[in-house]
Amino acid sequence: MPTIKDVAKLARVSYSTVSNVITNSRPVSSKARAGVEAAIKQLNYLPSGVARSLRHRTTSTIGLLISNSTNPFFAELARGIEDACYRNSYSVILCNSEDDPIRQETYLRVLMERRIDGLIVGSTGHDPALAEMLKNVHFPVLLVDRPLPELSVATVQTDHERGGYLAAKHLLDLGHRAIGFIGGPLKQSPSAERLRGFLSGLREQKIKIPPSWIVEADFSVQGGYRVAHRLMGARRPTGIFAGNDMTAIGVLSFASEKKIRVPDELSVVGFDGIELGRYFKPALTTIDQSIQRLGEIAAAALIRSMLEDRAGRVPETHSIEPKLLIRGSTGPAPF
Ligand code: RIB
Repeated sequence: MPTIKDVAKLARVSYSTVSNVITNSRPVSSKARAGVEAAIKQLNYLPSGVARSLRHRTTSTIGLLISNSTNPFFAELARGIEDACYRNSYSVILCNSEDDPIRQETYLRVLMERRIDGLIVGSTGHDPALAEMLKNVHFPVLLVDRPLPELSVATVQTDHERGGYLAAKHLLDLGHRAIGFIGGPLKQSPSAERLRGFLSGLREQKIKIPPSWIVEADFSVQGGYRVAHRLMGARRPTGIFAGNDMTAIGVLSFASEKKIRVPDELSVVGFDGIELGRYFKPALTTIDQSIQRLGEIAAAALIRSMLEDRAGRVPETHSIEPKLLIRGSTGPAPF
């Protein structure tokens, strides 16, 4: 691995001249600069992280604040973000708020003290205090999955409403008319938008369902299991759209325990496209968020905003088209 001394020797200049070229901290003659840059290129020398930090006054570190690391969606999202950052020579500091706004603010303060170069936030949802804090940070911020209405920064999210519509249309196309919805917390925008899209799909075909078949859960397996227990009474839906894959897995677990045959007696659609969903029996039909790609788009957009002076420009917004991924957990309506 070539060192800064090798560069100085090849360029026939002093060690401090090479350091001044790398850190851009002192004036250097154009001849000396050209010699150093040629030597760096020839030796394929990589300035150390410290040198790069001095040059750009950066730490080459990105903060990532997610809301629930035990949910595979966030784990796979973090993986996509980290892969893209690693390829661009950035390290990632990952913090998990466990859906707790207080913890989220605590971690934000920690990240601010670490002098990170940029921050990606998958927030716990609408949180004015967080938005206020983020307005005052001195590095680029990008929101992924859940925007904060009070904050005008770059955002990357799936078109959640479109995804809800696709789920409803898939079940309707299979002949289902008795369809239930088990959402995540409706105060979180993704869940509310999925419900909106789901209802617009039903309205399009003039299908009405009992209000009691629209139930709010918490995006967890336990929540899906618990609500399925309530929904699957005497008069019950033949199709369920679960607001995320973990909820759908809870419904599948309940159906299996009660010997309700999926998809013959009950069709289940999830939302996210987590890797786990393909290995269930039957494998989970879902609305795929292309999670890894979502993470890579978020990381690339943040890095662009860190390297370009985007003062006064409209922040980048990306709305990613979800896709219906048909597997074994949905089938024709039973009668
Ligand atoms: O599974 C967790 C859910 O919370 C996902 O659907 C994701 O979009 C986030 O909002």
